[in-house]
Amino acid sequence: MSKEIKKADIELKEAEAAAEESSAAAEVKPEEEKKADDKLRILYVTPECTPFAHSGGLGEVAGSLPGALNRLRPSAGDGHKRIDCRVVMPLYGQIPEKFRNAMKYLGYTNVAITWRQQYVGLYELHHEGVIYYFIDNEYYFHRDGLYGYYDDGERFAFFSKAVFAILPMLGFEPQIIHCNDWQTALVPVWQTATYHLADTKTVFSVHNIEYQGNYGSGFNDDVLGLPGTEVHLVEFGGGINLMKGGIECANVFSTVSPNYAEELKDPIGAFGLDGIVRRNESKLKGILNGINVKDYDPSHDPDIAAQYSAKDHAGKALCKQELQRYLGLPEKDVPIIAMISRLVPAKGVDIVQQVMDDIMDQYDAQFVLLGTGNPGYENWFRGLEVRHPDRVRSLIMFNIPLSHQIYAGSDILLVPSRSEPCGLTQMIGCRYGTVPIVRATGGLKDSITDCRLGSGNGFVFENYDPDSLRETIIDAIGLYQDKENWDKLVTFAMKQDFSWSHSAKVYREMYESMI
Ligand code: GLC
Repeated sequence: MSKEIKKADIELKEAEAAAEESSAAAEVKPEEEKKADDKLRILYVTPECTPFAHSGGLGEVAGSLPGALNRLRPSAGDGHKRIDCRVVMPLYGQIPEKFRNAMKYLGYTNVAITWRQQYVGLYELHHEGVIYYFIDNEYYFHRDGLYGYYDDGERFAFFSKAVFAILPMLGFEPQIIHCNDWQTALVPVWQTATYHLADTKTVFSVHNIEYQGNYGSGFNDDVLGLPGTEVHLVEFGGGINLMKGGIECANVFSTVSPNYAEELKDPIGAFGLDGIVRRNESKLKGILNGINVKDYDPSHDPDIAAQYSAKDHAGKALCKQELQRYLGLPEKDVPIIAMISRLVPAKGVDIVQQVMDDIMDQYDAQFVLLGTGNPGYENWFRGLEVRHPDRVRSLIMFNIPLSHQIYAGSDILLVPSRSEPCGLTQMIGCRYGTVPIVRATGGLKDSITDCRLGSGNGFVFENYDPDSLRETIIDAIGLYQDKENWDKLVTFAMKQDFSWSHSAKVYREMYESMI
């Protein structure tokens, strides 16, 4: 059976399941929905979410943490409640038809962006145990991409305000509104400055402090319309900084790994917001992300050539052969080093540029890159392929099924980030037995331990410099030749638990402590 047919079949089944779930949802009576009262009610506000529309790790977290929270079951006498976590996100133009068709229209309202009244349509979808709300406004969200537009500030100010406007339409009163990154930072700001919802607390999670939502001082008059006495909440460095407002106003401020929480107190790590972070340190929590272990499961993954598990990973060799065949690389037993990443400076591309030609010249290894980003980096990787046609493939694209094939078919995963709040690829790499090489930063440091120091699930280098990276890649290539020990390392990495099972409980504790 060809992969295309297999895939079409799966999509059809998913669509049928989505439609079934949604018609089941339509039968839920309002009284029953109100019984959600004995659950802890969380509204998770996010600018992106898998499987609907995403561009990076935040979307994956938003697509897996709420489901994990809803699956938590209290045991007798432990004092915990069940959680009803629902998600709200923009109805982007690129959300697939199969999901749109299964959505239920709940109505509309308006919000004021200073003097302009803007339409807010509301849709609902029940999907895999989570209720999703989609905010519709074609003018703001029916575009080719998610971000990168001249009016992003206004688009997400609108989205954040719309979150308050839809609350009376939900039949669900959140006790906690959990916001994520600068695009949603205005929710805690408006709660503090104007809405003052009495029974609602806010959490603001920083997934990456590098992107803060910085605007000129005129942004308040043009878009936000905060009363003069409250503008100080978002003022920073002579302009307006939305992330600063989120950190200041939220009841709890969290980030995506314990180590990144420490790094945020440092001027370099915090991209200038360290003073604000330190001032709010008492409400800061660092909780390591998990991954969706159902989507990333080599024993059931429909996108890969052969399924395999930690117990029996013979199938991985077939995946590797198939990957080499697909990429047109020599089908031989040499280590394949993969990098699956957005191509931006934080991901460590400049140190890769300084070592990869030498490694490809001197060692019998193959390298495959999957990713898009900075055009200069994209061209450099294209050039690397031209210089090493028998060893390198640079796939300048964003392609989820192909990423699974690369995770499954490679041996070593390169994550040499200069900074990495959490990082998910190193966890996915472990899950597929593709041993990560990481730099000791942010969540990479919290999730990967160096096998050269005893037992470890990967390779870790401390200093952000090309020599440390080169040495570590050479050590990994060396260990790959020692089949017995490499096999043990692969098995150990595959057995790591990177599911949400632990961190979802930590979030539950955090929420419970707030109410
Ligand atoms: C951002 C961070 C990444 C993190 C992800 C999910 O994309 O850059 O490190 O894993 O958010 O929290």
